[in-house]
Amino acid sequence: MTPLEKKYSRYKQLIDGQLALLIRKKDPASLYEPAQYVLDAGGKRIRPLLVMLSCEAVGGTAKQALNAAIAIEVLHNFTLVHDDIMDNAAARRGRATVHTKWDSNVAILTGDALVAVAYQVLLKTKTPAIAHVADLFTDGVIEVCEGQAYDKIFESRRDVTLDEYMLMIAKKTGKLVSVSSEIGAVIGNGSPQNVRTLRTYGELIGRAFQIQDDLLDVVADEKTFGKTIGGDIVEGKKTFLLLKALECARGGDRKMLQSVIDKSGTALANVGRVREIYERTGALAVAKTAIDRDIARATSLLKKLPETPARAMLYWLSDMLLNRHF
Ligand code: IPE
Ligand code: IPE
Ligand code: MG
Ligand code: MG
Ligand code: MG
Repeated sequence: MTPLEKKYSRYKQLIDGQLALLIRKKDPASLYEPAQYVLDAGGKRIRPLLVMLSCEAVGGTAKQALNAAIAIEVLHNFTLVHDDIMDNAAARRGRATVHTKWDSNVAILTGDALVAVAYQVLLKTKTPAIAHVADLFTDGVIEVCEGQAYDKIFESRRDVTLDEYMLMIAKKTGKLVSVSSEIGAVIGNGSPQNVRTLRTYGELIGRAFQIQDDLLDVVADEKTFGKTIGGDIVEGKKTFLLLKALECARGGDRKMLQSVIDKSGTALANVGRVREIYERTGALAVAKTAIDRDIARATSLLKKLPETPARAMLYWLSDMLLNRHF
């Protein structure tokens, strides 16, 4: 492990440790067992990492931002539990999703409780800017809901544009990532300029992150990815790849993609064929270019921040996201 990888694993341990202690109650078990199950499942913890690093990058300490970091991760876990119901997803982080291990009612309620726990932890943050921090957090919750609503609306639309897709992912994914970096910077009492820089950094890596998630849905190794490969294809999701491939697919390829959109005959068996079409039409290559470009822009923004160990870690984080397989 490189020194920066070691540092990441130290932050991750800190976050995992805090999350493990969060749910103290046991009854009713149908609420607290799944809640514990979700928070114990690991995950990359990039959002809480970003909260702490952003705080440090503007002159604060990681400890100051720890509660907000945990709050963001709990909120993220809430979105995942409900997202998996909405996407009919059976696996996450290499394990059964809450609604498949228990049922949808359990998953809905677990998600609800996680939102409340997230606020409970967030409001423990000691900062004169707590009202502002809470506002940013709430804006994040609302925008994720908007993004998720678009995601579902787009499933049954045939004419979704790439611009609409970009707006959708900015809301469902980008927003929580940019709220992470922005909240961290605000808690660290960063200058308005540094807060803005970190917010934009978050928006850019958040966007790249979702395009890459779309990509990994078709090319990743299922075990490493922890989610069912081809899930987006089966659900008829308007992903970056599907929209790009539609721009130039003809003949049988086009018919195949239309059947993905119509969700007719799109069993998991077709995933291989769709992947080939994504390859042939250049959609995979275009997606990679889009990811590279956003990450490069995000990385170059970091030059505006003072040179600190936290900034070095943020450079490392962009790089890690670019090369991730899970
Ligand atoms: C998954 O987020 C949902 C998306 C926004 C693509 P992550 O890929 O950060 O999931 P974990 O927390 O590491 O499992
Ligand atoms: C992630 O979108 C958005 C949120 C969880 C809010 P996806 O539906 O693509 O995420 P995964 O692939 O299930 O993790
Ligand atoms: Mg989804
Ligand atoms: Mg999903
Ligand atoms: Mg996905």
